[in-house]
Amino acid sequence: MSENIEVLLEEKRLFKPSPDFSKKAHIKSFAALKTLRKQALKNPEAFWAKAAKELHWFKPWKKTLEWKVPFAKWFIGGKLNLSYNCLDRHLTSARRNKAALIWEGEPGEVRTFTYQQLYYEVCRFANSLKHLGVNKGDRVCIYMPMVPEAAIAMLACARIGATHSVVFGGFSAESLRDRINDAQAKLVVTADGGWRRGAIVKLKDAVDEAIKECKSVERVVVLKRTGQDVGWQQGRDIWWSDAVHDQSAVCPAEPLDSEHPLFILYTSGSTGKPKGVLHTTGGYLTHTALTTKWVFDLREDDTFWCTADVGWVTGHSYVVYGPLANGATSLMYEGGPLHPSPDRFWSMIARHRVSIFYTAPTAIRTFMRLGVDYPKRHDLSSLRLLGTVGEPINPEAWRWYRETIGGNRCPVVDTWWQTETGGIMMTPLPGATPTKPGSATLPFPGIDIDVVDKDGKSVPLGSGGFLVIRKPWPGMLRTIYGDDARYKTQYFSQIPGIYFTGDGARRDKDGYFWVLGRIDDVLNVAGHRLSTMEIESALVSHTSVAEAAVVARPDELLGQAVVAFVTLQKSASPSPELKEELRAHVAKAIGAIAKPAEIRFTDSLPKTRSGKIMRRLLREVAAGKGVRGDVTTLEDFAVLAKLQSDDE
Ligand code: PRX
Repeated sequence: MSENIEVLLEEKRLFKPSPDFSKKAHIKSFAALKTLRKQALKNPEAFWAKAAKELHWFKPWKKTLEWKVPFAKWFIGGKLNLSYNCLDRHLTSARRNKAALIWEGEPGEVRTFTYQQLYYEVCRFANSLKHLGVNKGDRVCIYMPMVPEAAIAMLACARIGATHSVVFGGFSAESLRDRINDAQAKLVVTADGGWRRGAIVKLKDAVDEAIKECKSVERVVVLKRTGQDVGWQQGRDIWWSDAVHDQSAVCPAEPLDSEHPLFILYTSGSTGKPKGVLHTTGGYLTHTALTTKWVFDLREDDTFWCTADVGWVTGHSYVVYGPLANGATSLMYEGGPLHPSPDRFWSMIARHRVSIFYTAPTAIRTFMRLGVDYPKRHDLSSLRLLGTVGEPINPEAWRWYRETIGGNRCPVVDTWWQTETGGIMMTPLPGATPTKPGSATLPFPGIDIDVVDKDGKSVPLGSGGFLVIRKPWPGMLRTIYGDDARYKTQYFSQIPGIYFTGDGARRDKDGYFWVLGRIDDVLNVAGHRLSTMEIESALVSHTSVAEAAVVARPDELLGQAVVAFVTLQKSASPSPELKEELRAHVAKAIGAIAKPAEIRFTDSLPKTRSGKIMRRLLREVAAGKGVRGDVTTLEDFAVLAKLQSDDE
C-alpha cells in the first residue's frame, strides 16, 4: 500500500462549481452540503427516512433501521413496489407521456418508450412471467443485450416480486451456468443475439450450452433481436413476442416487504467463486433514487445517459432504477462505443441532446487517445454535467473530459461505489463541492466512510490506509446469496464489525478522499472487476497447465491489465500457439473480458518457504518495462525468489 501512496500524484488544482450551476442546483453551496453531511452523520436514520418518504409506499415502515452486525434491515414493516415507483406513480401527471427510455441499437434504429408505454410493456411481460410459472420469490436470470426488453424484464420481475439475476452478455456459457445454478433460477430471459462492434453476440447459443447443466431452469424466453437461426427446445423455449401476445396490460404491482430480495448480481471476490451480492427493495431504491437526483442534479427536462451495460450494477442503479424512480429520461445504447466510427458517442449526444453523461475512465482514456477531432465534429452543447465511475481516474483524463467533452462548462462528478454498496457512496455534488481531478472528494450525506489502519483507527489526514464504511446504509448488500458466513468473513472480518471495501485510499489535508484501487486479490480491468483466483482456476483447468498465478500490471488504457504466469505440465512445451490457446480457454471459462493480456511461462513460481506465491514479486516483474524476448522463453524465478524475504 505504501508504494501506491507514494506514487500517487497530488493534484493541486481546485475546480469550484460555477455560480450559475449552483444557483439552480438541488444543493447550492459547499456550506449547505457541509451542514447536510453533519446532520446526516449525527442522525443517518432521520436523513434516509426523509429520502424514503419521497417514494410511494403501500404501507409505511415501523422502524427505520435494525442493525445486528453485520446484518441490516431498513424500513422494517414497510411495503412498496419498485416497479410501481418507477412507472405507475408517474402516470398521474404530465410525465405519463414523457420519454422514460430512449434506446438506440448499434445498427442505428431508435425506439422510444414513454412512461405509459413502458408501463404497458412491463405489465404484459410481468403477466407472461406469471403465466410461465414464475412466482413471488423465484429467481429469474436475465442474459440479454442492451435492449429495452432487458429493462422491461427487470421491472417485470420487480413488479411480481421475482428476484432477478442479470448476467452480463459478455460472460461465457460456463459463467452463466454457474450463476444460474447458484441462484437456482427457474426461468431465463435472453435474446437470439445482440449487436456488438458489427458482429452478433450469440446469446441463445450460450444459454443452450449453459443450461445443459442447470436443472432448475424450466422455461427460456427468447427475444428476437438479430434474427439468425437458433437452437430450439420445444416446450422449454418461447419467443418473447409469443409470451406477451395474449397477456393483459393490467398487472397490479405486488406490495412487497421493504426487505424483499430485489436482485442478485454476481461479482468477483478474492476466491475462485463469484459472489451473489443480494440487494433488497426499500433501502436500495431510497439510496439509488436520492443519489440520482442529487449527484446528477437531475431536472425534469434532462436526458440522462449512463453508458453502463445493465449487466453491471451501474446499469441497474443508473440506467434503470435511479432515473426511472425520478421520472427521468434515460438513454440506453446497445453496442460498442467506437462503432461504426469512433465518434458514435458524440454523435449520439448531439442527436439526442443528452444533458447528463456518465461513463467510465477507461472509455475516457480511449477517447482521449483518439484525439479531439471526433468530439469536435459534433455539437455537444446540450451537456451540462459529466460523471465517471468504475475505477480511479487519472487527473489528466479528468481534465481532458472536462475541457474537451464538457467545454470547461460542465462539472465532473467522480463517483466511487461498488456492486455491494448498491448506489453512489462518495462523490462531489455538482453545485456544491469544489473538485480536484482524480479525487472522488467526499462521502455522500448519510454515508460514514473512513480511512483506517489495520486496527480500525482513523489515519491522520495526509495518510493512507483501508477504505471502510463505518455505519450501515440503505443500499448496502444484505448478504452473499445463500452464504451468510462468506458475507461476514468477506466484508466484516478485516476490521471486525466494520465494512471493509477492499480498496485502499488516502485522505489529503482537506479531508478529500483519493481511492487508490483494490488491495485484495481483485483486479479492475476497464472498470470491470475480475478475481485473480477465478482466472487462475480457469487456467489450471487446462490440461497443459500445472500452476498459474495472475497479477495486474498498470495499463494506460484499461487501468490494469491481466498478466498470467504459468507453469506447464511436463508433457507440454511452451509455444506462442499454447499462449493463444490458454487465452481462449480463459475466455471460454469466464468471458472475453478476463482474457490475460499477457501469458508468461515459467518453470516454477516464486514462493515463500511456507508455500505462498510471492505476488508482489510477480507484480514487479509484470510491470517491468523491459522488452520481452522470445515469447517461448521460460522465466527463471529461482534466483529472484531467493533474494526476497519470506514474509510476503
Ligand atoms: O476499486 C473500486 C473501483 O471499482 C470497485 C467496485 O467495482 P464494481 O463492484 O464492479 O462496481 C463498479 C461500479 C460501481 C471499487 O471497489 N471504483 C469504482 N468507482 C471508482 C473506483 N475507484 C476509484 N474511483 C472511483 N470513482
